[in-house]
Amino acid sequence: MKAVFYEAHGGPEVLKVGDLPVPEPGEGEVLVQVSATAINPIDRRLRSGELQEYISRTFPVVPGWDFSGRIVKLGPGVSNWQVGDDVVGLAFTWSIQHGTYAEFAPVSADSIAAKPPGLSFDEAAALPLVSLTAWQALAEFGALQPGQTVLIQAGAGGIGSVAIPIAKHLGAMVYATTSTRNIDYVRGLGADHVIDYAKSDYVNVINEKEPGGLDMVLESLLSDATTEAAIRLVKPGGTVAYMNNEPPDMPEIQARNIKTEFLHHRPDGESLGQLMSLYIDGTIPIPHLDIMQLDQAQEAHRKSEGGRTQGKVVLHIQDL
Ligand SMILES: NC(=O)c1ccc[n+]([C@@H]2O[C@H](COP(=O)([O-])OP(=O)(O)OC[C@H]3O[C@@H](n4cnc5c(N)ncnc54)[C@H](OP(=O)(O)O)[C@@H]3O)[C@@H](O)[C@H]2O)c1
Repeated sequence: MKAVFYEAHGGPEVLKVGDLPVPEPGEGEVLVQVSATAINPIDRRLRSGELQEYISRTFPVVPGWDFSGRIVKLGPGVSNWQVGDDVVGLAFTWSIQHGTYAEFAPVSADSIAAKPPGLSFDEAAALPLVSLTAWQALAEFGALQPGQTVLIQAGAGGIGSVAIPIAKHLGAMVYATTSTRNIDYVRGLGADHVIDYAKSDYVNVINEKEPGGLDMVLESLLSDATTEAAIRLVKPGGTVAYMNNEPPDMPEIQARNIKTEFLHHRPDGESLGQLMSLYIDGTIPIPHLDIMQLDQAQEAHRKSEGGRTQGKVVLHIQDL
């Protein structure tokens, strides 16, 4: 099968396009003929050699966790899916080898949902990781309630593009940060207050508008300053969900009873199926998509490394 893979860690140039054997689905897995995958920052971080203490590798590694496609084979013990089903999912594993930047990928049957006919394969592939992350952070960890306030950092990115409409769906008032060129995009996602970080300091803006503090911060930026600011921005009893780092060592976390964690997305086919219906009924708009071809994986990783992509970058693999 055609696949993108790397045989050693390094920059985007280690990504090769070549032929690899079609993997076999194991116990509880299905083999998916992949139509499209999506780029997530974690793909390039794993490629560069980061996070080896958490996630092991077997080379050659095919990167990628997001996918849409069609089931072509059932592994032992799978009874809830059929060959021919069109599906979408998050093929996360703690040990990476057979990812989704390939024509075929084995994935756990528990991590997939039916692909709604109303979504194209390219659209569907963009959604699993960011949708599950945003839902698990805002609805499950944050238990965000109608009328509460939330700051969503990097509003124009993959997470921001789905977290903003999910927070609106939960009834929250949303503050979001972005650069000047993405203001209209982020406003279109439903943010109530769009803060242009090139022109104003988001901490000052929020302190002025919410002197009592926010109910929640979804912190996807990574720096000591943003990490600590998030704790100061929430009200006593508020919540901070970190996407990239452990909470800081600040006495006020306990003193002000702040709930905080470094969250990690969790595959969940059932929850993903429910999120798909929010895209179909228009509650969550499809993020802006930059659709590239599988052969362009190096370029796609370079774009992601630039940190300025709007919405999601998708790699189209094959028409189904
Ligand atoms: N823990 C988890 O489970 C999990 C899951 C998914 C993602 N993450 C992490 O969360 C982060 C965001 O992921 P993502 O997929 O959304 O990344 P992404 O799509 O690559 O984010 C790109 C966006 O970041 C925005 N941005 C860059 N610098 C900014 C700044 N200083 N202030 C506000 N916005 C800024 C850019 O908007 P402008 O061009 O307007 O600046 C761009 O739209 C990544 O670090 C990723 O590793 C963690």
